[in-house]
Amino acid sequence: MSSVRAEVIEAPAGFDVDRIREDFPILRELVHGKPLVYLDNAATTQKPQAVIDALVDYYTHYNANVHRAVHLLSTRATEACDRAREKARKFMHARSTNEIIFVRGATQGLNLVAQSFGRANLKAGDEVLVSGLEHHSNIVPWQMLCLEKGAHLKVVHIDDSGVIPLADFEAALTERTKVVALAHVSNALGTVNPIAYMTELAHRVGAKVVVDGAQAVPHMPVDVRALDVDFYAFSGHKLFGPTGIGVLYGKQALLDAMPPFEGGGDMIRSVTFEKTEYNTLPYKFEAGTPDIAGIIGLGAAIDYVNQIGLDRIAAYEAELLKYATHVVQQLPGVRILGQAPEKASVISFVLEDIHPHDIGTFLDQLGIAVRTGHHCAQPVMDRFQVAATTRASFAFYNTVAEVDALVAGIRKVQEFFA
Ligand code: ALA
Repeated sequence: MSSVRAEVIEAPAGFDVDRIREDFPILRELVHGKPLVYLDNAATTQKPQAVIDALVDYYTHYNANVHRAVHLLSTRATEACDRAREKARKFMHARSTNEIIFVRGATQGLNLVAQSFGRANLKAGDEVLVSGLEHHSNIVPWQMLCLEKGAHLKVVHIDDSGVIPLADFEAALTERTKVVALAHVSNALGTVNPIAYMTELAHRVGAKVVVDGAQAVPHMPVDVRALDVDFYAFSGHKLFGPTGIGVLYGKQALLDAMPPFEGGGDMIRSVTFEKTEYNTLPYKFEAGTPDIAGIIGLGAAIDYVNQIGLDRIAAYEAELLKYATHVVQQLPGVRILGQAPEKASVISFVLEDIHPHDIGTFLDQLGIAVRTGHHCAQPVMDRFQVAATTRASFAFYNTVAEVDALVAGIRKVQEFFA
């Protein structure tokens, strides 16, 4: 679908959405005979040809295990993984590749911090502070840890616009707060949290800050040193890379002091039945054969995104979101959940008297892919007293024409169920 009517938004200089779309073969697919309008990017993003080619190239030409052999294919695979780790370091602005741990995704990264840092450092009576807009992945690992340790999971709730009131956040921090776990961007509402400032407040009481960045890295530049966060996790598949791979950034001094998360190959230096010595960072946290193809694919995705430029991506998506919000909220009977002043690429809405699953099913027949349900964020649904929403989530390859198709689709849904 071409970006007809693109003139209603101001694309940043050098940003050509029609040209970019050519890089994504799936965007040429028909769904139920209609051009695909893919608006489920918060669930997973589509892959550019460069990422698909990187996977095929690895499996076709140099598939081998890493770090274990001297033969050429293994050397090539190992070097490709090392290059990808360096790309991820640069992408996150981390100091060292020792701070870049490859994990399955943001969920595993957050569990790693809870199980390794949390188990080693929390005791009964300590507090973990989470916000009311977290994905289950940044609630449940902390709940499990608190149960085990007799620690307390404290929540700072969001207001009616989907924002964490900073005064409430500051008031919730005490000298007992050991961990503050926050989403950078809410997957259900799109709210962008002021992580740098929240981190500064958390550090004043000596807490460590763990950020779920799954919904942030596809939409804005992230600099872990400027944010000064202690841990930051993201998923490759939400960054136009493959599924099954992600990154956990951690400050080196913290990672060095933490015990391993899992035992197995690659994470050891030496093993006897009496004693195991662990490997150095980052391998200490990477037991077993890694997702080699995934790592290489993630490297290709980072290259791809860098070549467009995250500043330009952020500027384009801000315009698209502004336009989409404007046209969706003109529709009668629509309520948008999450109206934070700082928002990224998500419109979550409910329609009077029409169930989100009916909306999603109807839109699918028109070729429009959205997510319906609780978005793995049931406390957010509870906060707004709904069971589910319909969520349209955008990426830089989405167009004004696709937003218009969504609005036309919602109108048809309303006519059908009237
Ligand atoms: N966390 C993903 C979403 O928000 C799956 O849809």
